[in-house]
Amino acid sequence: MERRISITDLKAMKRRGEPIAMLTAYDYPSARLVEEAAVPIILVGDSLGMVVLGYDSTIPVTMEEMLHHVKAVVRGTRKAHIVADMPFMSFQAGPQDALLNAGRLLKEGGAQSVKLEGGQRVAETVRLLVSSGIPVMGHLGLTPQSVNQFGGYKVQGKTPAAAVKLINDAVTLEEAGAYAIVLETIPAQLSKVVTEKVSIPTIGIGAGPHCDGQVQVFHDMLGLFQDFVPKHAKRYAQLGEAIQKAVGQYVAEVRDGAFPTEKESFFIDESVLSELTQLG
Ligand code: KIV
Repeated sequence: MERRISITDLKAMKRRGEPIAMLTAYDYPSARLVEEAAVPIILVGDSLGMVVLGYDSTIPVTMEEMLHHVKAVVRGTRKAHIVADMPFMSFQAGPQDALLNAGRLLKEGGAQSVKLEGGQRVAETVRLLVSSGIPVMGHLGLTPQSVNQFGGYKVQGKTPAAAVKLINDAVTLEEAGAYAIVLETIPAQLSKVVTEKVSIPTIGIGAGPHCDGQVQVFHDMLGLFQDFVPKHAKRYAQLGEAIQKAVGQYVAEVRDGAFPTEKESFFIDESVLSELTQLG
């Protein structure tokens, strides 16, 4: 049986200096495509709140919504390591609460690990989860669930005090047992220092080229989310435009009778037809 990529495999990638390409996915078809493109680690991020569910931040995302999407991604994959994001208020209330919610993401959702935001503040929670058999990915820098505290989506770790705190948080997460850390929207020089300081992989988004891996949001990189494009996102395709064009063509063909043709239609025998005509 094919086995999924494990946290041991991911840590070995850092040791070998092999860059890790992580990508988000939120449903069955996108997960299949992402895995077929050889992505070793798929994040079912709470960014789904914005790019899939139309919320204006990640704050409203619930455990039930996360579970719904994690299950679909797990069904669409066999090999990739699936990380499930812990949504806002699924771990902030305390370690026991976090343990029950993280447990659901693995047991009901089928994920292999969870990701949660924060440093020193969540160290006790990380320790409990890891000692209970739940691998944890940390998340530092611009942690979107704290957007109201930050006053917007701003670059973090720019002052000496903030940079030192971020480095200490990374070390604390590693000591608590995290197997990797996402570094989001921090100066490239700072992510280099963190990456050299910890032995677990750092995965950057808007954190420059020195991390052990990178993560992008599926909808951002493929041009599927039109509301705004973050500076750290690179557009590898314009699928939103391609979809609009295709749908526009469908509408025009229905209107002018060019769709459907014989090719997309079904027919009965002439004999059945003539019986019908006699009935009528
Ligand atoms: O929710 C998400 O997609 C994330 C990534 C931006 C790291 O947390």
